[in-house]
Amino acid sequence: MRNTIFTALAAVSLLGACREQATDEETGEAAANTAPGPAPAANAAAPAGAAPLGAAVSGDEAKRLMKVRHDGMEDIGDEMKVITRELKSDSPDLARLRASAATVNRLAPEVKGWFPPGTGPEAGKTHALPQIWQKPEDFAAKSRAFEQAAQAFNAAAQGSDIAAIRAANADLGKSCKACHDLYREEEN
Ligand code: HEC
Repeated sequence: MRNTIFTALAAVSLLGACREQATDEETGEAAANTAPGPAPAANAAAPAGAAPLGAAVSGDEAKRLMKVRHDGMEDIGDEMKVITRELKSDSPDLARLRASAATVNRLAPEVKGWFPPGTGPEAGKTHALPQIWQKPEDFAAKSRAFEQAAQAFNAAAQGSDIAAIRAANADLGKSCKACHDLYREEEN
């Protein structure tokens, strides 16, 4: 009896595809069969099986990370301004543009580490919206899309095809906007 209740609870706590599978099969075996299935595969996307946005922080550590985040986003923004300026020019300074592309590409993978739980509005002044921590999977997906766009832009910037560089830059800009539209509070 106790075992049945435990199995039922375990089945209920499984998500999505797991839930369907668990209800289709005999309870005891379903729990055993689903354990090595979809759950570890989903975890494989996040390093070390961690939650998508990492472990919660508080106090000074939260404040420190929020400063790192602010400075990092400002750096990314500054590099993007240089890139935009060069791409508007009739004769873009490709060396300058490549340096900025490399910096954005270096910072991009850090973004996902700037938003652990505990660094939202409850921790201090921020334009980060609470939705980040309500939809961590989607937020992580937006970070990954941004990383990929930064990589593609950096690759295009190594070449001298200005049209291709412009196109990759437009995609990169869209990946910033896709995240900001949902997860950053509008400045007034
Ligand atoms: C995955 C989400 C995400 C992506 C991708 C992203 N940002 Fe942000 N950005 C944010 C959030 C959230 C904030 C608000 C942070 C805060 O106030 O703590 C922010 C803030 C900023 C700020 C203001 C600095 C600050 O801390 O208030 C600038 C500038 C900025 N982003 C530029 C960019 C640019 C340029 C790109 C793309 C090249 C980009 N961001 C990509 C989420 C993102």
